[in-house]
This record gives sequence, structure tokens and C-alpha cells, in this order.
Amino acid sequence: MTGMIRNLVPTFTAAAILAAGSLIHPFGNIDSRAVKGPILRGAGIDAETLGLFQRACQNCHSFNTELPLYGRIAPMSWLIARDVRQARLHMNLSLWQENLAEDRIMLLSEIGSAVKNGDMPVQRYLLLHPEARLSDQEREQIYQWTRAERKRLKSAPSHSGAERRQDRPLRPRGSVTSPSFLSIHFK
Ligand code: HEC
Repeated sequence: MTGMIRNLVPTFTAAAILAAGSLIHPFGNIDSRAVKGPILRGAGIDAETLGLFQRACQNCHSFNTELPLYGRIAPMSWLIARDVRQARLHMNLSLWQENLAEDRIMLLSEIGSAVKNGDMPVQRYLLLHPEARLSDQEREQIYQWTRAERKRLKSAPSHSGAERRQDRPLRPRGSVTSPSFLSIHFK
């Protein structure tokens, strides 16, 4: 009996260290301000293509992050928090409508090439999330959608082709929930 307890001590110690580490959030707690809701609001997108974004992108690029159990345990929780934070800084699909039309047009071409080149979703993510894998046909579908949506935005009456207002940032940085030192790289 005592032998068994002695054997369990290292296990408990390791578990205690992991649990304590999980309470530490060097990159902030990604769940704290997340409000789940629709993504790509205001975009002209069909349900099927939207479904691809929900399946393959929204976990990192929106407030709809679903953390798996291992994602709550350090050090995985730190790595995931960093990925999600950087992904949202680049592009947050929950705040799509908040982007100026010209920024949406720019993001659309980034999405198009990231998906066509196989850069997104990131490889290391696919190991644990096989459901996020995209077939060639699905990649083509997203790419074609980005082209159609860019065309639609460019011809929309609200997009007059006027100069960017100087008082507006490139993208709505204020909505990002990261400490300012992390956003320095993206300004
Ligand atoms: C594991 C989380 C994760 C998933 C899932 C993911 N991304 Fe990303 N994405 C990132 C990170 C992190 C960055 C920023 C750093 C980088 O470039 O690697 C990024 C950057 C981007 C960028 C900015 C330009 C670029 O290529 O760096 C675009 C566009 C993008 N992602 C689109 C997508 C699309 C579209 C999907 C779904 C098909 C997707 N991402 C899925 C994490 C993710």
C-alpha cells in the first residue's frame, strides 16, 4: 500500500506542475473575451464555402475557438494561445464586417494564395485536427470564392475607390485582445 503511494508521488507531482502551469498564461488567456458568433458577416458567401471556413479556419482565425482538453494544459496551452492570438491578429473572421472594404479585398487575396499554396491551415495543426484538411477541390472552391467576393466588393457602390482615411488603421487593431507588445510586429 505505502509502496503504491510512493509510486504515485512522481505522478502527482507532475500533474500538480502541469496544473499550475496551466493557470499561467504568458500570452494571455484566449478564452477570456471570446464571444462566439457568426463568421464572415456581410460577405456574399454560400453555405457550403462558409462551412469550409468553419471547418478549417475558424478555430484559430475567429472568436469561435474550441479548445481541446490538451489545449488547456501547459505547455500546449501556451503554444495554442500564441497560434490563436497571431492568427486573429492577421485575420479575425468574427470581425470581418469591421474591416474596410479595401482591407477585406486585401485579405481575400491573402486567403486565396494561402489556401492555394497549401500554407493554410498550418501543417502542425492538421496532425491533431484531420477534420480541417482540405482537398484540392475544396482549396479551389475557396480560391474561386475569394476571386468572386473581391470582384463583388470592388463593384459595390460603397467602395468608391476613395483614398484610405488616414485616421483609420490598416485593420481594426483595437479589437485584438493581445498585450500591445505582441502587436508591434504587425503595425
Ligand atoms: C493553427 C491555427 C490556424 C488555422 C487552423 C488556420 N490558420 Fe491561418 N494563420 C495562423 C497563424 C498562426 C498565422 C500567422 C502566422 C503565420 O503566418 O504562420 C496565420 C496567417 C494566416 C493568413 C495571413 C497571411 C499568411 O499567409 O501568413 C491568412 C490569410 C490565413 N492565415 C488564412 C487561413 C485560412 C483561410 C485558414 C483555413 C483554410 C487558416 N488560415 C487556418 C494559424 C492558423
